[in-house]
Amino acid sequence: MCGIIGYTGEKYAPEILIQGLKKLEYRGYDSAGIAVSKNGKTLICKNRGKVSALEQKSADTDLSGTVCGIGHTRWATHGEPSDINSHPHRGGENVTLVHNGIIENYLELKKELKAKGYNPISQTDTEIAAMLIDSMYNGDPIKAIFDSISKIHGSFALGIMFRDYPNTIYAVRRDSPLIIGVGENENFIASDIPAILPYTKKYYLSDENEVAVVTKSDIRFFTNDGKEIHKDLMTAAWDEQSAQKSGYKHFMLKEIYEQPKVIGDTINAYKNKAELFENCSFDFNIKGKIHIAACGSAMHAALLGKHVIEKLARIPVSVEIASEFRYNDPILDKDDIVIAISQSGETADTLAAVRLAKSKGIRTLGIVNVWGSTLSREADDIIYTYAGPEICVATTKAYLCQTVILDMLALKLGRAVMGEDEYLKQVNLLSSLPEYISNALKLDSTCKRLAEKNIAAEHQFYIGRGQDFCVCTEASLKLKEVSYVHSESYAAGELKHGTISLIVDGTPVIAVMTERSRIAKTISNIKEVVSRGASVICVTYDDVDVSDFCKNKITIDAPSEFLAPVIANIPLQLYAYHIADGRGNDVDKPRNLAKSVTVE
Ligand code: F6R
Repeated sequence: MCGIIGYTGEKYAPEILIQGLKKLEYRGYDSAGIAVSKNGKTLICKNRGKVSALEQKSADTDLSGTVCGIGHTRWATHGEPSDINSHPHRGGENVTLVHNGIIENYLELKKELKAKGYNPISQTDTEIAAMLIDSMYNGDPIKAIFDSISKIHGSFALGIMFRDYPNTIYAVRRDSPLIIGVGENENFIASDIPAILPYTKKYYLSDENEVAVVTKSDIRFFTNDGKEIHKDLMTAAWDEQSAQKSGYKHFMLKEIYEQPKVIGDTINAYKNKAELFENCSFDFNIKGKIHIAACGSAMHAALLGKHVIEKLARIPVSVEIASEFRYNDPILDKDDIVIAISQSGETADTLAAVRLAKSKGIRTLGIVNVWGSTLSREADDIIYTYAGPEICVATTKAYLCQTVILDMLALKLGRAVMGEDEYLKQVNLLSSLPEYISNALKLDSTCKRLAEKNIAAEHQFYIGRGQDFCVCTEASLKLKEVSYVHSESYAAGELKHGTISLIVDGTPVIAVMTERSRIAKTISNIKEVVSRGASVICVTYDDVDVSDFCKNKITIDAPSEFLAPVIANIPLQLYAYHIADGRGNDVDKPRNLAKSVTVE
């Protein structure tokens, strides 16, 4: 999704803006632009395409001496990716701005503005916002912004410059993220922490219905009745190093290799000897049902969560695709809880699920990676994953942390049902997970070899039963999104009810078998596809003999069957990575995808 950066200080602004945009590239974008104040004007430089093209374009433009500006990476919603539709947009004489979000009533506003003599040149909703603010401006930027946003329906984070205030950036948000970075003789606005990390770890969270006024020496926040508000300064827990590739070819690979550490950090944050989640305010006494709402990979983590919570704690769990949840008129009982899982904490559909639950008086728990994100502020209680900044658009380490948190939740909720001995055994085994993950990473060369073997296949299938089917859903998504290879995940027993017609000579089928009681059944299903020509890769334990029907086995070792899905994920992430890399794809920024999906 769109990324915003703003800088006001003493350094050459275009350089800082472009470096900031590079840090935001991971969010997904199709065009980029900057605007800077120079000699009483706001100069704009923007283009369709990469930030590197913008860098070249801005180097060819005379922006010398500029120390204040705003920048943007655009992920097209209204209007195709083009130079004209790129941000920043100008609205009349006074206003230039960048925008993340969607202005739902922009057509209506456009009509009104046209009647006032404005002539939009782009197809965007953003240009309308710029013109609206310009039309409301009478020398007082804060008033113009508040008057304008009271007319806007939809979501926005706006970074705004007024020609009359060349060294000041104004910022305001609703339902889209924005932070204000605090430096020495310089300050920033940004969509996300990695953009400011080279300069500062200190920041303020911008809240809804307030305007931030940012100069190089001062940051002030105002509400629409003119009152100034004082806010707590936050310190980012992440350092710059964690947002860099550190010698790896791609962030995806780096993030896969970070998993022993981040899983260790996540476990240690919530495990104190035999006790789990002692430091959480959440009341674990759940009398009703659990509904887990999430999107994409987070929803796949939820599927595994359902499996383990129902198995260990015998509490009914429903997994809700967040974009469907609120329109399904869900049946929520007052004793139920809604758990929302999100890496970014900004996913519009997941937030909507939380808001719906809260509006019905249902308790909400967020499992989230980004501190200070909207979900972390809106859910009643929060459990953080300690994955650190995830830059690759396709999630690996954050997803894995989510699955481990859900395993821990299942243990916590299931303690009485499973009995103390089994509980203590499993809780102790948690601590060994990082070591098992490190060992699974040694499968990298095997995974690369198998990826090379299947690199030309345009269709692949993942099959498994029970917890292994949950692993397959995520493994299949990972392959699709980074390699652009069509892939399907199936409960192994379901394939023969239709999809098996797609299996032809040489079709790769990856079978995951970690749930011992179901392995024999899955083997029967593997034989069904082998006899139709499939080329099978089995991901399973050393003692499971598949030599009869499978020449390509990925052997894994796990602390317990319950924790085996965490381990089984590792070779499947590596396999997807190597296929994508081998096909020459832009692995960290797959086409059409955005890291944080802040629109419905
Ligand atoms: C896939 C992926 C997405 C996200 C989904 C939810 O690799 O990253 O499917 O899992 O967009 O995002 P968050 O977790 O930020 O709510």
